[in-house]
Amino acid sequence: MSLLSQINTERLPHHIAIIMDGNGRWAKNKGLLRNIGHKNGAKTVKEVVETCAKIDIKYLTLYAFSNENWNRPKLEVELLMKLLISSLKKEVKTLQKNNIKLTTIGNINSLPTKVANELKDVVTKTKDNKRLTLTLALSYGSREELIKTVKEISLKVKNNLISPENIDKSVINNHLYNQNLPDVDLLIRTSGEQRISNFLLWEIAYAELFFTRTLWPDFNKENLFEAILNYQNRERRFGKTSEQLK
Ligand code: FPP
Repeated sequence: MSLLSQINTERLPHHIAIIMDGNGRWAKNKGLLRNIGHKNGAKTVKEVVETCAKIDIKYLTLYAFSNENWNRPKLEVELLMKLLISSLKKEVKTLQKNNIKLTTIGNINSLPTKVANELKDVVTKTKDNKRLTLTLALSYGSREELIKTVKEISLKVKNNLISPENIDKSVINNHLYNQNLPDVDLLIRTSGEQRISNFLLWEIAYAELFFTRTLWPDFNKENLFEAILNYQNRERRFGKTSEQLK
């Protein structure tokens, strides 16, 4: 029986986030340049995005470039930026055809102007699409995001626009990069590493974590279905007891 047919469509994760890891190792294992790993990683991005739209996942967030990734060799960063531009140019039609809205989180203005402009263009073109919201985390770090949030709220407190006792979860949400991003239900990390690496620390409070040894360029829709099935076999208690859930 195919994995897809085993998925309960009533209990799909609303928001899937993915730490796409292992492009470099995939290339090294094959005696290829790291850049070829990233190019093949971009093919996986396409397959995963199209599959999520097809099976009706509402939010997909991909960790495409972290704040720490700026420390990689200059040439690798340049090639990643070029790959981002070419992927955006190539895939804008696919996003439109599949009714996918592109959004971003991260310090977008720190990206090269060409990348930032291309992103803004695709975000504008797809803003009314409704089937799936695809969010790319770029020049992103969750702690930096939380620092930004604390600074903005502190300023509002200082100017008497908000009182400290009224600061709650929704106030924090309203100061994140994207105020409409819901909590993550399922977080996937490829390549065998089992860590969070400064990704969506606020939104993953109750996420189910799925780690696979598959390297990102080898990850395919069957691996995605496997992760979703694994998620559907878990009991999400949100602090309650099993009995309370029955
Ligand atoms: C991690 O693999 C991957 C990245 C840092 C970049 C992710 C980029 C892509 C998947 C390609 C393009 C993206 C889009 C959105 C079109 P790694 O280089 O850290 O692998 P390693 O740990 O094996 O070295």
